[in-house]
Amino acid sequence: MSAPADHEAQEQTYTMGYNEEFQVLLRRRSAANNAAHLLPKLSSGMRVLDAGCGPGTISMGLADAVAPGEFIGVDIEESQVEMASAAASAGGHKNAEFQVADALNLPFESDSFDVVHAHATIMHVPDASAAVAEMMRVLKPGGIISSRDMILSSCFTEPRHGDFDNAWHVFGKLLSANGGHPEMGKEIKGVLHAAGFSDISVSASFECFAAKEDVDFFHGFAQGWFFADQTMAAAQKLGVASAEDMDRWRDLLDQWQADPAAFATIAWGEALGVKPG
Ligand SMILES: C[S@@+](CC[C@H](N)C(=O)[O-])C[C@H]1O[C@@H](n2cnc3c(N)ncnc32)[C@H](O)[C@@H]1O
Repeated sequence: MSAPADHEAQEQTYTMGYNEEFQVLLRRRSAANNAAHLLPKLSSGMRVLDAGCGPGTISMGLADAVAPGEFIGVDIEESQVEMASAAASAGGHKNAEFQVADALNLPFESDSFDVVHAHATIMHVPDASAAVAEMMRVLKPGGIISSRDMILSSCFTEPRHGDFDNAWHVFGKLLSANGGHPEMGKEIKGVLHAAGFSDISVSASFECFAAKEDVDFFHGFAQGWFFADQTMAAAQKLGVASAEDMDRWRDLLDQWQADPAAFATIAWGEALGVKPG
């Protein structure tokens, strides 16, 4: 098993960080909502790996879908693995276990998993092709890779108040500066093809924030996470936004929340591919 990454060093290279404001977004996730493209492919007895499992909210549904098959979730960050392990114990997901590991150096034998899944992980790994190659290594011949990553250029907050769209652009620049891939959701077909996967299928979907409680959630999340001191400091250090920009966008976000037409989405690209036999 790889050694846990130093928390502060990891936060410098992983754009989203591990603060409570970002965790609330992950806690809204589930296999039904976030891995709908994969669920029909799962059956009892399969051995499944979830790479970059975070707090495990998607993992639990995947584990249930293959029970009593073995489900393993890995994350480079120890605090996430602890949360996922606690959730598995509390929820009685007896076939699920979690451990610290780097997606670039998985501590598993080659040809040993039926499915390797990665939700919002490949987009954060600087050498995305190396991560996909490592996932392919641990898949059995005929095994399935499954991914879902953001398509930043298709995300929106509507109506467009002032220059708020520039806040989305700054988010993309922060992701890129950390070696991430803001458009991975639409690049993934090419990445899987280059890695040698066959039977590749891709789709795209929107995570919508339109009902009042979802608009309020999106507003609270953006104010609490994107406009947090740490993110603002990173944007200013990179020279991609000033304190005045951030103050203006914060006000525009308040205006958006109060607008009865408020509607936001996060756009995702999903992919499945088969390791040739
Ligand atoms: C945006 S979160 C997604 C978590 C979870 N899959 C979800 O969608 O709710 C990305 C996760 O990938 C993890 N991660 C980033 N780089 C990684 C790497 N090289 N190996 C393993 N995990 C990694 C981060 O620690 C983080 O928990």
